[in-house]
Amino acid sequence: MAFYEQDVGIHIDEQKLQARVREMGAQITRDYQGKDLTLICVLKGSAYFAMDLSRAIDLPLTIEFLGVSSYQGGTETTGEVRITTDVSKPMAGKHLLVIEDIIDTGLTMSFLLENLRARHPASLKVATLLEKPARARTQVPIDYKGFVIDDVFVVGYGLDYAERYRNLPFIGLMKGK
Ligand code: PRP
Ligand code: MN
Ligand code: MG
Repeated sequence: MAFYEQDVGIHIDEQKLQARVREMGAQITRDYQGKDLTLICVLKGSAYFAMDLSRAIDLPLTIEFLGVSSYQGGTETTGEVRITTDVSKPMAGKHLLVIEDIIDTGLTMSFLLENLRARHPASLKVATLLEKPARARTQVPIDYKGFVIDDVFVVGYGLDYAERYRNLPFIGLMKGK
């Protein structure tokens, strides 16, 4: 029995996940033809999705990593978003695509968009694997969306519960959460 099976059930399996990532990559490839694209991987959660998505985009591109945290390991947002690691270069004049694993209350993304907009990029768009509209506390524009999910606590494929389960290759459901 795998380590997670007692606590986690499968919500979106690996095959469905990877098929959707490929579709999103193809769409981004069409939309950014001729543009110098910079992907912003929002650590830690979007690491797995961003790496897979980047490989599904058939364009020359740059990847930057931006660390933010608001959940601090728990199941509820603290509402206070902090930058834990900043990008390595100026973002002015770049075509930025922010990549997230999930938009839940939207507080993290709205913080990110405000923060990045202040750096004067050429364009600023959002790609998220998951959206959980039931818990939205602020509206954020989403340009590329993988799946809309119900108000359930999901883990895996980058998403954690107390920093665990990020390494599951599928989106799982925490049993009893
Ligand atoms: C999670 C997730 C998103 C954010 C979404 O990150 O990865 O970044 O919360 O929630 P929100 O829409 O309610 O703001 P977390 O703060 O847990 O940090 P992590 O990515 O390091 O797990
Ligand atoms: Mn995150
Ligand atoms: Mg987290």
